[in-house]
Amino acid sequence: MSNGHSDGEAPAVVEIRKLWTVFKSPEGEQVVHRDLDLTIRRGEVLSLVGGSGTGKTVLLRQILGLETPSKGEVSVLGHPPGRMSATGAANVGMLFQHGALFSAFSVLDNIAFPLRELKLLPEDLIRDAALVKLQMVGLEPQQATKSPADLSGGMIKRVALARALIMDPPLLLLDEPTAGLDPESADGFCDLLRSLHRELGLTVVMVTHDLDTLFDLSTRIAVLADQRVIVAGTARDVIAYPHPFIHEYFLGGRGQRAMEALHEGAPSPLVAGRPGARAVPSTER
Ligand SMILES: Nc1ncnc2c1ncn2[C@@H]1O[C@H](COP(=O)(O)OP(=O)(O)OP(=O)(O)O)[C@@H](O)[C@H]1O
Ligand SMILES: [Mg+2]
Repeated sequence: MSNGHSDGEAPAVVEIRKLWTVFKSPEGEQVVHRDLDLTIRRGEVLSLVGGSGTGKTVLLRQILGLETPSKGEVSVLGHPPGRMSATGAANVGMLFQHGALFSAFSVLDNIAFPLRELKLLPEDLIRDAALVKLQMVGLEPQQATKSPADLSGGMIKRVALARALIMDPPLLLLDEPTAGLDPESADGFCDLLRSLHRELGLTVVMVTHDLDTLFDLSTRIAVLADQRVIVAGTARDVIAYPHPFIHEYFLGGRGQRAMEALHEGAPSPLVAGRPGARAVPSTER
């Protein structure tokens, strides 16, 4: 496995060592992760790909601190996940797959929710902070009073993203950020994510089944199969790795177009000219 370690690389933001996840049920044990290792460095946009049920969402939830692994270690900026920073802000923001906005709250109240929960700031500052984030994700102030039911799918994703960013976390987790969006909205959302990644200097861990999103945004791809990360590297590293899942995923019907894009657009969109590419020198082969 290649994690791209070498001297002079950006510091690790997420370190996962020998992680096991075992779910017990009356039918027996299900081992989801077995001795899984992964390091994510500052400035990366690392995409996790893997078949359905391979434990991608569970891994994000473990990085966020919502779940604890059965064995092994996860650290975020050198601490156990779920810890607040010295200023009380969250280290990790997460965009959940289905947006998960509170339907009874306005757009602004949804974005402000994590700050209100902290009860550290006066109301006017909380509103200002939420309005700044609303603007940051490309929405107009007029949208602030709307209810989630009155928003398009793309706008719901943007509001959920604004909420994930309300505490200025250095690490952002995205679970299927473009799932369910039409191609135009998906492209717009990728553009937004790319500019936020660049402007805010974020480290991003993304789960996606969408090859366009994968190739558009990732600086590195990690493949989850056989209960662990079997390979992590550039698209070329990953595609060259012999494994049935990779063959099917990238070289099957829908993967063909992605491959063509890679060959046409030399150098690879994943290694050159991408924000964060600096932090990820092309992996040693
Ligand atoms: N709390 C839980 N208790 C028992 N089993 C669980 C729990 N959470 C997840 N699982 C199981 O762990 C496995 C991995 O789930 P996970 O949601 O991480 O998959 P995934 O890779 O995100 O899949 P998809 O691509 O379909 O979203 C699944 O078999 C799921 O049923
Ligand atoms: Mg999932």
